[in-house]
Amino acid sequence: MEITYLGHACIQINAGGKTILVDPFISVNDLAQNIDVDSLQPDYILITHAHQDHVLDVKRIVRNCGATLISNYEIITYYNKMDFLGHGMNTGGSYTFDFGRLTATVAQHSSMFADGSYGGNPNGYVLQSDDKIIYIAGDTAVTLDMKLLPEMFGIMDLVVLPIGDNFTMGPKEAVKASDLLECNTVLGYHYDTFEQIKIDHEETKKLFEQKGKKLHLLPIGDSIKV
Ligand code: NI
Ligand code: MN
Repeated sequence: MEITYLGHACIQINAGGKTILVDPFISVNDLAQNIDVDSLQPDYILITHAHQDHVLDVKRIVRNCGATLISNYEIITYYNKMDFLGHGMNTGGSYTFDFGRLTATVAQHSSMFADGSYGGNPNGYVLQSDDKIIYIAGDTAVTLDMKLLPEMFGIMDLVVLPIGDNFTMGPKEAVKASDLLECNTVLGYHYDTFEQIKIDHEETKKLFEQKGKKLHLLPIGDSIKV
């Protein structure tokens, strides 16, 4: 699997011969101006929850390339009204897609569209593909539910965790989350985009190093392979 960081909480995953774009928020992100949102051609768009900083570019990208949405039932129902195709899931459910198997996990957060529409419960996702396992936490606090994931899925190759604090867990909690997840390879996201979530990169990386863990903070547009 290859994971490309596109700024804020947006990542693109190449897995099982398909491209899955997660939580597109690019066009208004000053830090991601090197990414051309109209050049993205994902097969799927995976949405963790309905907040604007996770769905802003969904319509634009679907109109450009006809990607299939994957999200919770309420978010898919919302987009179905715009005639967008989607696959609805809900917390705890798994489904085998043509790129691999996805499981919707618990995320401790909230979920509402910018127009006030209900966005269902927020989720993270475990993706099993190409004999690898990654976990994308979504916006969440550190939660004991994370302890279940290594028990159920075994050793994971990479966990993607929010680390910006204020709206989600911060660096200290992300270290704790990686303990619960029993995974020492972390890709940080959901940081620096706004004033409230700016982090000190070197200090944050040190927090992980002190525990024998590796935190990746990728330049926007860079990729990591698992
Ligand atoms: Ni959010
Ligand atoms: Mn967010």
